Parts: sequence; structure tokens; C-alpha cells
Amino acid sequence: MRIAHITDIHIQRRPQLTELFGKRFLGAANLYIAGRHDHFTPAAQEALVRALKAQQLDVVACTGDLTALATDEEFQAAKDLLGPIFAAQPSVIIPGNHDTYVAQAEAERWIERYFGEWTGEGDWPRLHQHGQVAFVGVDVCRHRPILSTGEIDAPQLQRLDALLGSPELNESFVFLMVHYPLRNRRGEPYGPDTRNIKNAAALEAVLAKHSARIGAVLHGHEHHGFRTKMPVSDGPDIDILNPGAGGYAHLPDKGRTAHFCIYTVADGHIAEVERFAFDGAEFVPEQGGAFASKG
Ligand SMILES: [Fe+2]
Ligand SMILES: [Fe+2]
Repeated sequence: MRIAHITDIHIQRRPQLTELFGKRFLGAANLYIAGRHDHFTPAAQEALVRALKAQQLDVVACTGDLTALATDEEFQAAKDLLGPIFAAQPSVIIPGNHDTYVAQAEAERWIERYFGEWTGEGDWPRLHQHGQVAFVGVDVCRHRPILSTGEIDAPQLQRLDALLGSPELNESFVFLMVHYPLRNRRGEPYGPDTRNIKNAAALEAVLAKHSARIGAVLHGHEHHGFRTKMPVSDGPDIDILNPGAGGYAHLPDKGRTAHFCIYTVADGHIAEVERFAFDGAEFVPEQGGAFASKG
């Protein structure tokens, strides 16, 4: 099976004045006054759609941050642009912290209003089974007044422990999907504390217990992609993959551009990892092979 992994597309629309309150005001100031909106471009976002349409895929997995400020306009624009690539085959979506950027977007589950067909509904974690591949989506994104930290609550951790231990997954290759990184590119716990999953150690303890069951962890949030491992003392280490932001502008002087990955799963393991980079016009296979660059 061929699975595309996209993340952090960050579709942006300039917010209406009436939408500027609280954290969204700070976010808008950051995006539009400090110039961060140039970090993500329609050129890359539209090329991403063309690139995915040109591939034969069995599943598209998206690890969140479809929007920037979680406004209705952004969700609608994201649905208009990305909906067709999610609808072309089965897809799985989890929210990112920018999709729950303000309390209202989280409380009213706006991402489900627009993308519910692919996020599913109900308690987390959520299981999506496609062929012999199972996608276990975890939601650690909680609205914060200022900081962008994640957290997984105790009931979700307990349900995750039970799901990963259940015979339901015996025959499956399991992708664990989470928006935030567990580890940095050197394999160390991801930090700083103002930007990570507050109780990442508790989540890692559950994953370590079931490490033989987990094929790989897929995440985003850190916009420069990398592949690393979570070390496990009494089981196999866990493979961790982050393709990097799919909507990043092409800024070669800064070593920055958009990426996405395709994983081929065969006979219960990842047989091939392909990574594609935006060259300013289209996505092309990464020079030197997947994750040869630090961008
Ligand atoms: Fe992001
Ligand atoms: Fe994020």
C-alpha cells in the first residue's frame, strides 16, 4: 500500500476585523505584521495538490495544521483546495494546534464540521483501518490562551493503552498519528517546554509498552522535516517520520521549502520512504533520497 503523509499546509486568509480577538489577534499580528504569512504560499499548496493527484495512492494521512488562525474562511478555503485529494481515496486527518487556535474552534470542533468525513468523530484515539494498515489518531491539541503546548489527558491515554493492546490490531501495520513531535531530529525529547506535549513522557511510556505493535509514528508541527527514532529499552525502537510543512514557501536561501512523503507498506513493514520537495514550481523527488537534506 502507498500512503501519502502531508502536514502543516497552513492555508491562510486575512481575518475580518471582528474575528481578531485574544490569541487570534496575537497570531494575526505575527502573521501579517511580522511578515510570517510569506512562510506559506498558495504556490506550494496548489503544487502539493497537483503532486498528490499525479500519484497512485491508497491512503492520504494528514497530521494537522491545515489552517493558520482557524477561521471559517480558512477552513472553507482548506476544504475547497484539499477536499478533492482527501476524497480521491480513503484519508485520515488529525487536528493541529492551529486548527484549534481559538477556544471556539476547539469547543465547536470546526475541523470536524469541514473535514469530519476524514477525522471521524467521538473519543480519541480514533482508529481508521484501511486494508492491512491501521491508523491510530491521537489528539493532543488543546487550546491555550498564549502558549502552543500540547497535552494528552488520562482517559485518552487509558483508551490508547487498551487499543494498542487489543487483538483488533494483530494483523495490521500500525501508524500512530500525533501532531506534535515526541523527539527532535537528534532523537532527544522534543522541547522547549513552551512548545512540546506537556506530558510527552506519559504518552511515550504507553507507546514503549506497545513498541512491537507500532510500525511508525507520523507527526508534523516542526516545519523542517526529519526522520528519527524513539529509543525503547525493552523492545524495538520506534520509527518517527515528519515530512515537513506541505505549504512552506520556496526560500532556498534560508534552506526552506515544502515537502511531503510517500510510504510503501508491504509484508508488515515500510519497504520504501519517498520524500518530495517543492522546487518553486512543482514537487520533485528529494535530491539524494528521502531526508538527505536538513530542510
Ligand atoms: Fe504548523
Ligand atoms: Fe503545529
